[in-house]
Amino acid sequence: MPVSTEKIQTGTPESAARRKPGGTISAPAGLGPLIREAWYVIAASEDVGRELSSITVLNEPLVFFRAEDGTPVVLDDRCAHRRFSLAKGHLKGDAIQCGYHGFTFDRTGACVFAPAVSGKQNFGVRHYPAVDRGPWLWVWMGEGAGDRADIPLPDEIEEVEHGFRGYTFNPCNYLMVHENLLDLTHLYYLHGPSVSSEEYANTPPKLLPAPDSRHVGYVRSVSGTSFKLQSIFCGADGSLKLTRTEENWSRGPALNFGWIKFERDDGIDEPVRPSRQMVVHAVTPQTETSTHQFWSFRFNEPLVVSEDEAADAIRKVFAEDIEVLAVQGRLIAEDTRTGVVENSVPSDVPGLRLRRALQRMAAAEKK
Ligand code: FES
Ligand SMILES: [Fe+2]
Repeated sequence: MPVSTEKIQTGTPESAARRKPGGTISAPAGLGPLIREAWYVIAASEDVGRELSSITVLNEPLVFFRAEDGTPVVLDDRCAHRRFSLAKGHLKGDAIQCGYHGFTFDRTGACVFAPAVSGKQNFGVRHYPAVDRGPWLWVWMGEGAGDRADIPLPDEIEEVEHGFRGYTFNPCNYLMVHENLLDLTHLYYLHGPSVSSEEYANTPPKLLPAPDSRHVGYVRSVSGTSFKLQSIFCGADGSLKLTRTEENWSRGPALNFGWIKFERDDGIDEPVRPSRQMVVHAVTPQTETSTHQFWSFRFNEPLVVSEDEAADAIRKVFAEDIEVLAVQGRLIAEDTRTGVVENSVPSDVPGLRLRRALQRMAAAEKK
């Protein structure tokens, strides 16, 4: 039986794209509003070097590189002259020279050279605060310098040393990615028995007390179930019946992470490989209808497969999510009926809580 219903007022892609005063962007109800006052991941730190890279976040084009002293630099990727992409230019020391007419911008974004005029100019491109934290480079998309204490990555990510990471692109609103990650009943019904079990899908989550209004988390513990994929990664018997206990959190718009503990069910006093797993998803909205997803899977046991093999196995699983999310996103965007009702069950409660938290954050940004 459904436990709650929620009326969804549908919107059009045009209304989704309309900017509201105050910098917050509207989105159809039921989809996540873009939140600017947040840190977002834009790349794996080790992939950021002396080449110019680009990415779009919250509809804003960014260019980024590492300065000669190793500091990450993130600037607006539109030249202040005629808006050519600075990522198509080149580095001169720590400055970017535009590849069209040569205007040059230092690492703060100030224009320090323009042809036929002398000296520093009184214009430039926007500079974005950026910092390396964990495996990733984070950028502050809000006003001011941003507080590094607000980067949502848990410190525990450093405690689990073995693993692999990757990236997937989702052609849907970022809240749909969070709801996918917060409602793991789909592990069994979408991905099948190699990833989860029916017992797991039928065990409701219990909400955890949140440390603040940006956090939504739950715990779920399931006995007598097997999780083949993790076992295969770490060389254990995938048919073992285990108890899986997971804590799964979304922290504001930019992060979802989960701790998973595996214990034997058969009374044999031997460790499970792995007994601890951490999964972190950095969720970075590209636009209202597209989302970058940077992920890191970590285990307390060494992998017996290569990192590339493990990441490829996970990508195959995510390809199934992407297929669903792409169709779901398109159907929601195309659905112009009013009064459509979505019916929810206990496994939806964390996602519904997150919807409300994000709406509150968006409303606070409008003030
Ligand atoms: S567009 Fe960049 S210098 Fe002209
Ligand atoms: Fe999935």
